[in-house]
Amino acid sequence: MAIEEVDAGSELDERSIVDPAIEIRNAKVTYDEGESYVLDDVSIDLDRNEVLGVVGESGSGKSMFASSLLDSVPDPGVLTGRITYHPRDGEPIEVLDLSKEELRELRWEEISMVFQGAMSSFNPVLKVRTHFEETLEAHDANVAEGMDFARELLSDLYLDPDRVLDAYPHELSGGMTQRALIALSMVLNPEVLVMDEPTAALDLLMQRSILQLLEDLQAKYDISLVFITHDLPLIAALADRMAIMYAFRFVEVAPTQDLVANAAHPYTRMLLNSTPNLDAPLAEMKPIEGQSPAPINLPSGCAFHPRCPLAEEQCMQSEPDYHDVSDRQGARCFRWEAAQAQILLNYEDMLEDRGTSGGDADE
Ligand SMILES: Nc1ncnc2c1ncn2[C@@H]1O[C@H](COP(=O)(O)OP(=O)(O)OP(=O)(O)O)[C@@H](O)[C@H]1O
Ligand code: SF4
Ligand SMILES: [Mg+2]
Repeated sequence: MAIEEVDAGSELDERSIVDPAIEIRNAKVTYDEGESYVLDDVSIDLDRNEVLGVVGESGSGKSMFASSLLDSVPDPGVLTGRITYHPRDGEPIEVLDLSKEELRELRWEEISMVFQGAMSSFNPVLKVRTHFEETLEAHDANVAEGMDFARELLSDLYLDPDRVLDAYPHELSGGMTQRALIALSMVLNPEVLVMDEPTAALDLLMQRSILQLLEDLQAKYDISLVFITHDLPLIAALADRMAIMYAFRFVEVAPTQDLVANAAHPYTRMLLNSTPNLDAPLAEMKPIEGQSPAPINLPSGCAFHPRCPLAEEQCMQSEPDYHDVSDRQGARCFRWEAAQAQILLNYEDMLEDRGTSGGDADE
């Protein structure tokens, strides 16, 4: 098959994901009638019960990806492609074919989203309890039972349920507000939780402890989790698999251990080298020079070529498709083997440094 005919994103996933909770196929978002894309032909599956970490620089399209999952890209953006949600029981649902009312039901009950900056979304004049009750009522759920579940969730998140429910939002600390928001997003027992930079406003210690709590919640309630962040090491400690976004596309997708030990895309390797880790002295941390591109006037060929130390003629002429690195790892790069050989990682084992289980892949 000629390379142009391969829907490589689908291929990458069709061979690896056995039981998808959501299939995303050729998702594109445009704000200018197709002149440019702020999400560009993204295909990926979210496996049932997996934690998928989505990482990329500011403006790379992470929030567009998140909002696409619920057909909620900000107006007047136009989303095309196919988003198929597979409930644990029942027929698959084509999200982009749903009416507004059907979408409203899907949201929170099946796929729940904590939007970027949502910490300010609590209404300051309403007690936290009212937010839970209104959400339950809006979805015709049994409020008494729902509030019992809310209390359980708040306890799971190491909060005093009655104290938090009786508080006004301003009476909670940042960490408490974020945990209350996570409990609210789960109060209708969704199968999928999408969190867009949920811990960005918190200090490092609080970010880590929230991630630990999320890991516990995910296991207890069997949810699939999409966690979006620009902080690669933070999510590496939690995610089963990582998807690295650059210029509105996924440029590498791999199980976390493989990605951290054996990343194949130059951007991923440079991103890993640019983040703090215990092995590398600060002097060895290498920020990635240059700017991530805007949607208008994307560089020709591989959009990363102006910043890539391995770029050659071919990279400027044509766009790389996914290349197989293994049966679960793929990278959009013509020269991924050269990248692994020539862009050396500045740490021994990032996951071990962070006190999580170390990788078994070797470099
Ligand atoms: N409402 C909008 N109208 C037009 N373009 C938009 C709109 N919102 C975002 N964009 C563009 O879409 C691109 C992707 O934005 P997105 O918000 O998904 O990035 P992001 O990766 O989430 O960034 P950040 O880390 O800063 O949250 C950006 O280049 C931005 O300029
Ligand atoms: S395709 Fe070329 S420019 Fe793009 S990341 Fe690979 S080596 Fe670099
Ligand atoms: Mg964003």
